[in-house]
Amino acid sequence: MSRNSSLMLHDNLQSTGHGGLSGVFDVPGDKSVSHRSLIFGGLAIGTTQIRGLLEGDDVMATGRAMQALGAEIRRDESGVWHVTGAGTNGLISPEAPLDLGNSGTGVRLLMGVVAGQPITATFCGDSSLSRRPMARVTDPLARMGAAITARDGDRLPVTITGSETPLAADHVSKVASAQIKSAVLLAAINARGTSIVREPTASRDHTEAMLRHFGATVRSATDSDGTHVVELEGEATLRAADIAVPRDPSSAAFPMVAALITEGSDLLIPSVGMNPLRTGLILTLQEMGGDITLENQRTEGGETVADLRVRHSQLRGIDVPPERAASMIDEYPILAIAATQADGVTRMLGVEELRVKETDRIAVVADGLLAAGGSVSYDEDSMTVTGGGIAGGITIDSQHDHRIAMSFLTLGMVSVAPMSVTGCGTINTSFPGFADSMNACGAALSAAPEQ
Ligand code: S3P
Repeated sequence: MSRNSSLMLHDNLQSTGHGGLSGVFDVPGDKSVSHRSLIFGGLAIGTTQIRGLLEGDDVMATGRAMQALGAEIRRDESGVWHVTGAGTNGLISPEAPLDLGNSGTGVRLLMGVVAGQPITATFCGDSSLSRRPMARVTDPLARMGAAITARDGDRLPVTITGSETPLAADHVSKVASAQIKSAVLLAAINARGTSIVREPTASRDHTEAMLRHFGATVRSATDSDGTHVVELEGEATLRAADIAVPRDPSSAAFPMVAALITEGSDLLIPSVGMNPLRTGLILTLQEMGGDITLENQRTEGGETVADLRVRHSQLRGIDVPPERAASMIDEYPILAIAATQADGVTRMLGVEELRVKETDRIAVVADGLLAAGGSVSYDEDSMTVTGGGIAGGITIDSQHDHRIAMSFLTLGMVSVAPMSVTGCGTINTSFPGFADSMNACGAALSAAPEQ
């Protein structure tokens, strides 16, 4: 297999040491914004044009679900997506179950959409998604008037019959979760009066931004005790509004860490979204001594973006505080990889939500690092990595978790012996072309040798 032919079709990849990353690394569109673009476009009156949409498996599953619910969605030859909405009261009951594949965001946000309209839909997904808890979303939606059944009370498949007259919500979420907040807000679009969602710290606010962009009235504030409060005026009418999707900071995390830890690297990652509720990893890596500069900060399509210039750096371990977790929740696996190359100890605190992601990311990251020769300890809500050499030479099963696959392939760039990862097809959920883009900048990823 030549390094230059596409690796996207290979499920088992191997990563070997190389001489540093350089050049320009284009990462795809933001996954969170892409899901919401298709959902809000489908709920609006008129046609929304979306530029820069992430064409990954997760977002495509949301698009197919919105089509089954009655939205018209097409891609033109130049790559612009056109979504003609059915209106906030115009969705239809789909004939078949909605299969959201691997996507927690897709399934949870769409549950909110269906709960707010008098339609019925059944939701299902892959083995990873079918293991993930859904009560955190279905409980508040049931209180708003939706009729819901779920396997084992909390798991997919879930069937929801939405209410014609949803009740306004006053929901106190135990965790800072944009998926919970968004599901409630989406159901509340058709509720009479003001709905309120409270979360312990602010989670990503793309739903609030998009509600405003489409014409709804939303207020956000932080209480004196730190609680983040969002209020939505119900019975809102959404009007089509074009969207330019920024590039995904959670995808940029992989080339960013790869460049920091491999000697000789000097990499430019252009036009990355800089929403402050998503940039916790950049701050953390800078505190660890990472040479990351934000160049050319500007506003593109209403979103702040910057070009990231990243040079190889000797990192040092730090404590990552719990209150930062929400702003980098998807980035802990790759931070753990960076921490193996740092001097000293990196402690990741208050990260219990990692246990309910596509995999139990505390266990899967820690077990993988230990097997590769790393020094790691963990408990229910924290993980501690001590820097040192990584022997590698093992195979990691991604277990349908794209960020696990990309993290351990990144580790192979600095391990003594190559790292292999099985199940790399899952990378297409968020980062189509990941391996080819890495290789174009100097990495050495290839099809793994047959076992
Ligand atoms: C997302 C929210 C986060 C994140 C996920 C995307 C979103 O999940 O992990 O990848 O787009 O709302 P939680 O809200 O469950 O923390």
